[in-house]
Amino acid sequence: MAKFTVDERRVWLGGKIVPVNEANINVLSPTSQFGLNVFEGIRCYWSDKKQNLYAFRLNDHLKRLKRSQKLMQLEDKYTIKDLEAALFNTIIANEYREDISVRQTIFVDGFGSWASHGTINMFISPIPKAKSNSEYNKNGLNCCVSSWQRINDNSISPRIKCGANYINSRMAQIEALNNGYDTTIFLNNRGTVAEGPGSCIFIVRDNVLITPLITDSVLESITRDTIIVIAKELGLAVQERSIDRTELYLCDEAFLCGSAMEITPIFSIDKYLINNGEKGPITDKIHKEYLRVVTGDSQEYSKWLTPIYS
Ligand SMILES: Cc1ncc(COP(=O)(O)O)c(C=O)c1O
Repeated sequence: MAKFTVDERRVWLGGKIVPVNEANINVLSPTSQFGLNVFEGIRCYWSDKKQNLYAFRLNDHLKRLKRSQKLMQLEDKYTIKDLEAALFNTIIANEYREDISVRQTIFVDGFGSWASHGTINMFISPIPKAKSNSEYNKNGLNCCVSSWQRINDNSISPRIKCGANYINSRMAQIEALNNGYDTTIFLNNRGTVAEGPGSCIFIVRDNVLITPLITDSVLESITRDTIIVIAKELGLAVQERSIDRTELYLCDEAFLCGSAMEITPIFSIDKYLINNGEKGPITDKIHKEYLRVVTGDSQEYSKWLTPIYS
């Protein structure tokens, strides 16, 4: 159980670890006014066996954070070592011994505008997060194809994980909920499948696992990459290629994936049933292996786990 109650949680802000209610930022800052920030959502899984907490693919998350920062031309204030040390210290200050999710956000503070490169600041906020699809609190999802188009590399790139990109996600998610769906799948500006509002998508056709190209208006997702690696290792055929909308309706299985939602089966898309509205066998196989990998039960992938407590 968490040591601190919700309003006593420790947050890293500007080099200090403080109770969350004391972690305040300037209302006139560019992050507050224009969403000028880049961030990561990093999962850490508790191992009862090893009595330690393990961050999953931490270095890959921090490298993506630096890429987002570079594309946004934010001042380069923190090294990977700084980012890692601050994350460790914040988790340890909260004494978490359970599965958690860590938000690490670099943002533009001060009194600048949307074109400012600084003043750079950062906050880190770890919160408890139980395994599996608590995101939508469902075993599987009824999805629609969004009438909103995914942002693209020539508008605001989905490759950048910045707060402002989630306004596109918001529009699509609210539309889906208003129309009675759990979530939605975006098409890109070329009309092929992109991703979910906070996740990537895989489909299965004739035993082949297929996911859109990284250039099809998707985030360079760490879970997507993890699934490609473990599926190949499981002997599955994997294709990265553009997916047509009608392939969504015809596929044998489909699932959304991401650090937050892990792997969540799709039961229907625009009311077309996928695998009769049940989790498919390939999805199940990958899901089980994914949970083994992130929780440290697979020796082979221990390189992806960073222990938090020494
Ligand atoms: C738009 C979008 N796509 C994909 C993902 C999955 O990315 P990752 O697997 O790195 O968490 C996320 C989650 O962060 C996301 O917000």
